[in-house]
Amino acid sequence: MPIYSEKVMEHFMNPRNVGEIENPDGTGEVGNPVCGDMMTFYIKVKDNRLEDVKFKTFGCGAAIAVSSMVSEMAKGKTLDEARKITPKLVADELEGLPKNKFHCSNLGAQALNKAIDNYLKKQAKRGKK
Ligand code: FES
Repeated sequence: MPIYSEKVMEHFMNPRNVGEIENPDGTGEVGNPVCGDMMTFYIKVKDNRLEDVKFKTFGCGAAIAVSSMVSEMAKGKTLDEARKITPKLVADELEGLPKNKFHCSNLGAQALNKAIDNYLKKQAKRGKK
C-alpha cells in the first residue's frame, strides 16, 4: 500500500504557486521545531480577496503537497473564506494524509492564516497614520 495518495504525489511532483511575491501584502512564516520544516506564505490582496498566493517550503513531501494545495484552495477566496481552510479540509482535498503527517497540513493552514493576520495588521497600521 502506498503511504501517500496519488493526489499528494501529484502535488509533490508538480507543486503549484511555488515562489515569492514581490512586495507582498502579507507574509506568514511557520515552522515545526520537531521535524525542522519551514513554510512561508506570501499573499496579494485586492478588494478583500486573495488575488495571488505563493509559498516557499523547506520540508517533507507532504508539507510541499500541503502548501501547493492550500495555495490553490486559497486563491480567489475572500479573507473570511480563506480563514475557513482547516488542516482537515486540506488533508481531505489531498485524499488523506498518513497520521504522522497531519502536522504537515497544520503548518499549511497556519502559514496562510499568519499571512492574513500580517496583512490585516499592516492595514490597521496604515489606518492609524
Ligand atoms: Fe514536518 Fe512534514 S514532517 S512538515
